Amino acid sequence: MKIMEPDKSPIVIGCDHAAYSLKEKIKSFLMQMEIHVQDVGTFSEDSVDYPDFGIKAASMVSRGSFKRGILLCGTGIGMSMVANRFPNVRAALCSNIFSATMSRRHNNANLLTLGSRVIGEKLALEIVKVWLSAGFDQGRHKRRVDQFDRIDNINV
Ligand code: RB5
Repeated sequence: MKIMEPDKSPIVIGCDHAAYSLKEKIKSFLMQMEIHVQDVGTFSEDSVDYPDFGIKAASMVSRGSFKRGILLCGTGIGMSMVANRFPNVRAALCSNIFSATMSRRHNNANLLTLGSRVIGEKLALEIVKVWLSAGFDQGRHKRRVDQFDRIDNINV
């Protein structure tokens, strides 16, 4: 298995009220690893609409301003739905170490989404670490991921 040192590229992070506390913990964890973090909010537990923050972070990954992003909401589902609407974004909702690893190895995920009401802090930090450390396996997986880019040109 291809496990490397964590990728230290800057990360854009965002969340809604449900995940504010977990976002702060992940931010500290990343900063301890000397990873630059751009936080697009939210900045409190006051109720907000998760798409506002998902759109901010996903658009930065989409246009290449950030190589990677992390988005959090209660389930992680809404954030992953929003993020995957953006070209070049491959968002993976992960609740376990295996999915986090495989989302990098097989899907070259560039945006991780987490559900603060689904997993605890310890597991969330482990998932983040593994997700930053696993590499893309390339080969047949690259051929498949490259097919994503053709979806925009399909008439439905
Ligand atoms: C907020 O209550 C909740 O709907 C949101 O955090 C998220 O789980 C949506 O997918």
